[in-house]
Formats: sequence, C-alpha cells, structure tokens
Amino acid sequence: MSRNGWSNTPVISGPLKLQCVAQCYRNGWSSEIGIHNNIELEKKYKYVSPILTDKNKTMQILINLLQNAKDALAVADPSLAKKLSVCTRLAPDKQHVEIIIADTGLGISPENLARIFSFGFTTKPKGHGFGLHSSALLVKELGGLLQAESAGIGHGATFIMTLSLGSVSEEKSEIHEEQI
Ligand SMILES: Nc1ncnc2c1ncn2[C@@H]1O[C@H](COP(=O)(O)OP(=O)(O)OP(=O)(O)O)[C@@H](O)[C@H]1O
Ligand SMILES: [Mg+2]
Repeated sequence: MSRNGWSNTPVISGPLKLQCVAQCYRNGWSSEIGIHNNIELEKKYKYVSPILTDKNKTMQILINLLQNAKDALAVADPSLAKKLSVCTRLAPDKQHVEIIIADTGLGISPENLARIFSFGFTTKPKGHGFGLHSSALLVKELGGLLQAESAGIGHGATFIMTLSLGSVSEEKSEIHEEQI
C-alpha cells in the first residue's frame, strides 16, 4: 500500500482544497494512468471552496481510493473504455461535501461489496486488505461517511466520501481547471 510519506508528516488541520486530489496524478500517476493504460481522467469539481479538515487523513483516504480505482482499471476488460472520474459536490443537506471517485474497472460482486471494509479482505494477489478498512476508520475520525457502490463485476465501482464542511473558509478557490 502506498503511503507516500503522509503518515510521517505532522497532522495538520486546516482548509483543504479538494482539487488537490488530482495533484496526486500530476505528482506521479498521471503519465502512468493517462498514457500507458489509456485511462481517461474526468474531473468534475462542482464544489471548489476549501473545507476545514485534517489534510493528512483526507489525502490518505483519497490516495487509497485512487489506488484501488487504478488497480480495478488495470484488470478490467481491455475492450471496454477505461474511465476514472473525480467529482466534488455539495451534499443535498448543504452541510456536507461529497467527494466521489468512480471507475469503470472490474467492479465488485454483491457478496464482496458487503465485505470490502473488513480488515484483511482482499481479492488481489499482492493485496493486504488494509486500504479500505483504514480509510473507513479515518473517515469516521473525521466525522464523515464512506460508502461503496457497484452494480457488479464488469460494471465499475463508485466510492463516496461525505465530509462535514466544518467552518468553511470564505476564501474562493483560485485553482483553475487547467492548473490541476
Ligand atoms: N475500485 C474498486 N473496484 C473494484 N474492487 C475494489 C475497488 N476498491 C476496492 N475493491 C475491492 O475491495 C478489496 C479491499 O480493498 P482494500 O483497499 O482494502 O485492499 P487491497 O487494495 O486489496 O489491498 P491494500 O491493503 O494494498 O489496499 C480489494 O481487494 C478489491 O477486491
Ligand atoms: Mg487498496
């Protein structure tokens, strides 16, 4: 499991621009995903203001979800289009933000969908089954919710992380799409 050094950095609570999710790609994965594996990356940032959160925990969760999406796309039917989408949007209650990572990869069977957050559950030859379990614990520590959806094998998977807006900074995002 790639930790990218996040666990060694001090805990920082503060405003986080969710667009930095996509910077994971710029800082290492973009060429691998976009060019070699022919994966289309779609970014839909409908919510762009910073949220007040623990940046390290939030980024660790997102890295786990993105790594899983990448793994699922790598083993998907090669004849199907490979798409990874990252979306942020205000939740219907307007008190939370939803961060959605969706892929058109392998998908998850209904039996496995019920077990994927269990410690040690993995279907990967070199998997540990730690990523989603630890992500679910981290989201809980942040007072949020992590949900998984899949219509089954061959139908991709969607992970929705819901976080409280907290005390949202009034600062408007100055990150433009072309900078991400
Ligand atoms: N996007 C996804 N598409 C399909 N299956 C997924 C996806 N994300 C998770 N899974 C399933 O959930 C299982 C558990 O994921 P989890 O991240 O906890 O462990 P892992 O990726 O197998 O290993 P690691 O501990 O290295 O992360 C995976 O092995 C896989 O079967
Ligand atoms: Mg994983």
